[in-house]
Amino acid sequence: MRMLENYSLEALNTFGFRVSARYFVEANSVEDLREAIRFAAEKQVPIVPLGGGSNLVLSGDQDALFVHVNIHGKKITSRNDDLVSITAGAGENWHEFVRWTLGEQAYGLENLSLIPGNVGAAPIQNIGAYGVEIKDYFHSLEALDLQSGALKTFTLEDCQFGYRDSVFKHSVRDRFIITSVTFSLAEKLSPKLDYGRLKQEVEQRSGECSDAFTISESVCDIRMEKLPDPLVLGNAGSFFKNPVVDECLLRKLQTDYPDVVAYPFEGRWKLAAGWLIDRAGLKGFRQGAVGTFNKQALVLVNHGGASPDDLLGLAHHIQNVVHNRFGVELEIEPRVY
Ligand code: FAD
Ligand code: EPU
Repeated sequence: MRMLENYSLEALNTFGFRVSARYFVEANSVEDLREAIRFAAEKQVPIVPLGGGSNLVLSGDQDALFVHVNIHGKKITSRNDDLVSITAGAGENWHEFVRWTLGEQAYGLENLSLIPGNVGAAPIQNIGAYGVEIKDYFHSLEALDLQSGALKTFTLEDCQFGYRDSVFKHSVRDRFIITSVTFSLAEKLSPKLDYGRLKQEVEQRSGECSDAFTISESVCDIRMEKLPDPLVLGNAGSFFKNPVVDECLLRKLQTDYPDVVAYPFEGRWKLAAGWLIDRAGLKGFRQGAVGTFNKQALVLVNHGGASPDDLLGLAHHIQNVVHNRFGVELEIEPRVY
């Protein structure tokens, strides 16, 4: 294993910020990860696991060991009349993995097509899109404990998944590196087409018959239409979570803004943060080298040459404007280092 020093992370964060890690290593196995733990302890620096770098903001040079988790492999571990159990290494590309599952007639992840990043990061924020979250098809995961060096299995219950949330953001934050994830997929396809214009898109492609690849391709088309490609325009997808508010605030908002977008959520209401930013007049807004995307106000973009401070300054400005106008707090979604 080659430990690299002062390594540029520019190609490993989808904002494309020119920052470096004091130490960097590619880990291809659990044994490599254990060696990385020993190295970090010796140098007395924290370890940061890295997948595709599509859900983080690197706010400056990092005095840490960044470990690119590159553990590959995917296999069907069991199959019966209803369920297909599939395990994938943390370093597998998420979208390629999803497409592979569909080819194996194992269904459930099709709505999560084209989400950037790798399998190992997917449980961290319980990735979700188009009415599906990974918790719906999750069985368990294996992770290496940075304190003891032992592998631990986390069940669905252990992970405490919520909206863009899991135990890995709370009580065991920074303690584990996920090495593999096991999914319980379905033998039979049950299309979930209720989100937005997905049903319409699928029907346009294939009439009434919606096979899993058609659904996957329809999701890809919708995503490509409204989300910027990080290779073209630096971004990390939604920059804020959709805020959850109580009935009283929703009613107040509805009086002033009858078209406010809100969905019922666990006895409360989830507002569309993109709508709030858009309605505050900030869709396509530009402040120097950063801005909001002109087709999706929730996505903050690096137009080229921006610094992390430029981005965090814009985020702060948006939070203030939205708070002053609607009385709603926006919470940043990607992890800021
Ligand atoms: P990274 O950015 O590399 O890491 C994210 C966090 O997870 C970091 O804290 C990192 O330390 C930690 N981590 C990474 N790997 C491991 C590991 N093996 N073990 C422990 N911790 C680890 N997300 C959605 O939920 N839904 C969407 O629809 C969606 N759309 C997006 C669209 C675009 C254009 C972009 C750029 C992003 C989008 N995202 C979306 C966010 C992002 O793709 C997901 O959060 C994805 O899971 C991040 O994967 P990654 O490998 O890039 O993680
Ligand atoms: N909207 C606007 N203006 C905008 C953007 C959105 O009015 O500029 C409105 C839309 O018209 C729609 C509503 O807001 O009525 C919701 O928009 P959209 O369907 O685009 O979804 P979102 O709530 O903005 C969430 C996730 C996305 C995920 C999509 C699809 C969060 C924080 N974001 O976005 O996830 O792909 O739903 O399910 O929950 C990510 O996490 O990075 C991400 C991209």
